[in-house]
Amino acid sequence: MNTRATFGSKLGLIMASVGSAVGLGNIWRFPCEAGENGGGAFLVVYIFCVLGLGTVVMLAEFFIGRASQNDSVGAFKTLAPNTMWKIVGYNGVLAAFLIFGFYSVVSGWTLEYMYQSITGNLKADSVEEFNETFGLFTSGIFRPIMWIVIFTVITHLVVLSGVKKGIERASKIMMPLLFVILIILCIRSLLLPNAGAGLKFFFYPDFSKITSKVVLSALGQAFFSMSVGMGCMITYASYFNKSINMPKTAVSVVTLDTLVAILAGIVIFPAVTSFGISPAQGPKLVFVTLPNIFQQMPFGSLWALIFFLLLALAALTSIISIHEVVTAYLHDQYKMSRRKSATIVSLCGFAVGVVCSLSFGILSDFKILGFTIFDFLDFVTANLMLPLGGMFICIFTGWYIDKKILKAELTNNGTVKFGLFSVFVFLLKYIAPVIIAMVCVNQLGIF
Ligand code: PFF
Repeated sequence: MNTRATFGSKLGLIMASVGSAVGLGNIWRFPCEAGENGGGAFLVVYIFCVLGLGTVVMLAEFFIGRASQNDSVGAFKTLAPNTMWKIVGYNGVLAAFLIFGFYSVVSGWTLEYMYQSITGNLKADSVEEFNETFGLFTSGIFRPIMWIVIFTVITHLVVLSGVKKGIERASKIMMPLLFVILIILCIRSLLLPNAGAGLKFFFYPDFSKITSKVVLSALGQAFFSMSVGMGCMITYASYFNKSINMPKTAVSVVTLDTLVAILAGIVIFPAVTSFGISPAQGPKLVFVTLPNIFQQMPFGSLWALIFFLLLALAALTSIISIHEVVTAYLHDQYKMSRRKSATIVSLCGFAVGVVCSLSFGILSDFKILGFTIFDFLDFVTANLMLPLGGMFICIFTGWYIDKKILKAELTNNGTVKFGLFSVFVFLLKYIAPVIIAMVCVNQLGIF
């Protein structure tokens, strides 16, 4: 008996996967990481990580999910019964849960900025003033938490409305819209005075800036942005039907995801140099830079409203997929109803979100290894759990799984072409795990 829901249409399926990939990771986290890690140098390493490593992990996850028709833990239990491989699945569920926490905080910020643009308050006389407003808001208690509540409730309702209706419909509408508005903002940003310096910072690689930290950050960002390394794509692929061309789907998802990140860079960095802001601002970069751009546009508040609405929607389609990893796990493994599983995830995720949010204010002095709670969860999940998860997913698919089964699944039993299969297997077995291991070990200072 197979009662698993499947995605309704091919487009809906690609859109849902793109919806998971494209989110705050592209528009908020990518510029922030690129800004802190040397701009162009980061971009080069990032693209290498996306093409050489992330895409390979994504395809491996697609295989694991569709072949097993199971959640991220159940998938390993099905394909490798009575082995330790299920730990890779647990790592993913834990990562999803932790990411849910800090992701809901930033998602809440997008709602606040949306609200501020509706009330016409997203205005300031200087960059410093935007900076101050952001600091005051994020370090508060009530407001940021209120937005987390609202965002979590919306997420909860969408997750409960089921795979097909909820996730697919939301993604199909907002993804193309987000694309259009980003292009408009790019044009606006490129017309600002001194935009060229920002473009140079973003596109011109100064290779002397590549350090082990830059490489690890780019690797983590690539995995975070592509939603790989934690079983999210395993979970989504378990809903794929058997006629989907998975290699092609992976290429579409990766291309769109990378394009959105680069567009976000073209919006942010010219504005950063034009307004004289430092690119290494951390999490507030986008929230300080963008209002400045909007302020200088005719109908600025309207543009700001549309942008933050779309950003909130992009965050929603991503957080739904994060939520789904844990919900599917509880639903499949403990035979809980979807409603009960989703409620547990929403409530526990909310609790993590509150703690993360308070780490900008009253808990800011509480540090773990020198990081605030928010930064710690961000670092540990993106820079450790996802790369390590991705590495073991590669080793599992490359070494444990029979290549005939792998090929049959990825080519839909020989009915679709996958010309690069042997290149894929080579990357899967040798290149991806070795490089990821080297980057992680190097960062730990053991090398
Ligand atoms: N890829 C999402 C983003 O770029 O915002 C974040 C994310 C979604 C990370 C799903 C991990 C995940 F499993």
